[in-house]
Amino acid sequence: MSSLLIRGGTVVNADLSRRADVLVADGTIREVAPNLEASDKTETIDAGGCLVMPGGIDPHTHLEYPFMGTRTSEDFFTGTSAAVAGGTTMVIDFVIPDAGQSPIDAYSVWRARAEKSAADYGFHVAITWWDDSVREAMGTLVGELGINSFKHFMAYKGSIMVDDAVLIRSFERARELGALCLVHAENGDLVAHAQAALLGKGIKGPIGHALSRPPEVEAEAAHRAIRIAQVLGAPLYIVHNSCAQSLAALERARHEGQRVFAEVLAGHLLIDDSVYRSDSWDFAAAHVMSPPFRSREHQAALWRGLETGLLHTTATDHACFCAEQKRMGRDDFTLIPNGTGSIEDRMHVLWHHGVNAGRLTENEFVAVTSANAARIFNVYPRKGSVSVGADADIVVWDPQRERLISSKTHHQKVDINLFEGMVVRGVNVVTMSRGHVVFREGQLLTEVGAGQFVPRPPFAPVNASLQRKRMASALDEVT
Ligand code: URP
Ligand code: ZN
Ligand code: ZN
Repeated sequence: MSSLLIRGGTVVNADLSRRADVLVADGTIREVAPNLEASDKTETIDAGGCLVMPGGIDPHTHLEYPFMGTRTSEDFFTGTSAAVAGGTTMVIDFVIPDAGQSPIDAYSVWRARAEKSAADYGFHVAITWWDDSVREAMGTLVGELGINSFKHFMAYKGSIMVDDAVLIRSFERARELGALCLVHAENGDLVAHAQAALLGKGIKGPIGHALSRPPEVEAEAAHRAIRIAQVLGAPLYIVHNSCAQSLAALERARHEGQRVFAEVLAGHLLIDDSVYRSDSWDFAAAHVMSPPFRSREHQAALWRGLETGLLHTTATDHACFCAEQKRMGRDDFTLIPNGTGSIEDRMHVLWHHGVNAGRLTENEFVAVTSANAARIFNVYPRKGSVSVGADADIVVWDPQRERLISSKTHHQKVDINLFEGMVVRGVNVVTMSRGHVVFREGQLLTEVGAGQFVPRPPFAPVNASLQRKRMASALDEVT
């Protein structure tokens, strides 16, 4: 039995912090207690002056994703390697079937791609079209294939966008199965309308991307998804909330007792829309993502949402494209591949601008970087917790160590870094994935294929039925 003792640190979980050593054997945490003894064969890691926290969970990534005529530059090995370099030890990526493609076939394609992962991973499956076979496939995915969440794109008209009729059928089916529905909330028809109008006026550069997707376009879709979920009694998770108007819709829904979870991206918290006004086309295009970066007022609202618990999780939406790929939209902003990355930097910037800035406690940091995602996506406490029986996905975090973030030194496979030049204080000096040290003192020690698929069970059906009774009594009367 291979064992490892992390000695002398402070264990920080979402609920409390305490001085304790952590004994790991065969990939699992065996003991968490002060003054543990190491046997001769036990390797020790000195965590004196450091915090010992659960590895991060990034619940929103797109590794090796064929999108907008190209493919994201990061594959499952490079992406999960960059993730562990930044203290993230699990990602939840997206299976995105083409229109007409069986969701099960698409699931097999993504499972094969992910076999090279260096850290653990799960999948959400997108519902991109509808017929009875999709309904049936959702049952198989939940019942047999470890999926408990389905994603719906309300934007990207003409490719993966679905209309309300599909949302309704899919939300209802997911509720029946004890699965969670996710939405990318932007009104794709409004976006297409604005894109055509802007191109008609001769606006062809990256600024057109931001202008075609104002906050109202996002808020309308968020509100619509929330109300559809409310009528059907289906729990909902809204990805990459970026504006105050979406938060208002969320706040109202939660105030009314609705089960709505919400995510924010590290990028939306820290990058503002001035990037689209850069004189450099490449720089502006590198920031083309959906929803776009917003003004500082929205950033302030997002931080408040995170501080007050309205936003539960932080993610990256890691969907990287290099400059050459972005140039596909040189003459037409609608052809610039949408996406940015920060899988390596999320934990660092969240600590620096969250904990160091007095916005988050260290325990809240754990909540928003791992524990809440683990709970919402039903892998807690196996993930998101330093506790006996959990997977040994652990970071040893030096709150004094500084890092200068740069594309010149990052491990991400992309030629830009969103946070270029930012100096952060508080970084992981060791990352452990299932008990293996995969990053230590700046050195990546990852292995192709060492990561494992993490099946996620459905949520207890009783909760879904209670939710339905509470939220949809009007609908019960007609069904
Ligand atoms: O611009 C983005 N976010 N690209 C990735 C796909 C998505 O919308 O999540
Ligand atoms: Zn999206
Ligand atoms: Zn995404």
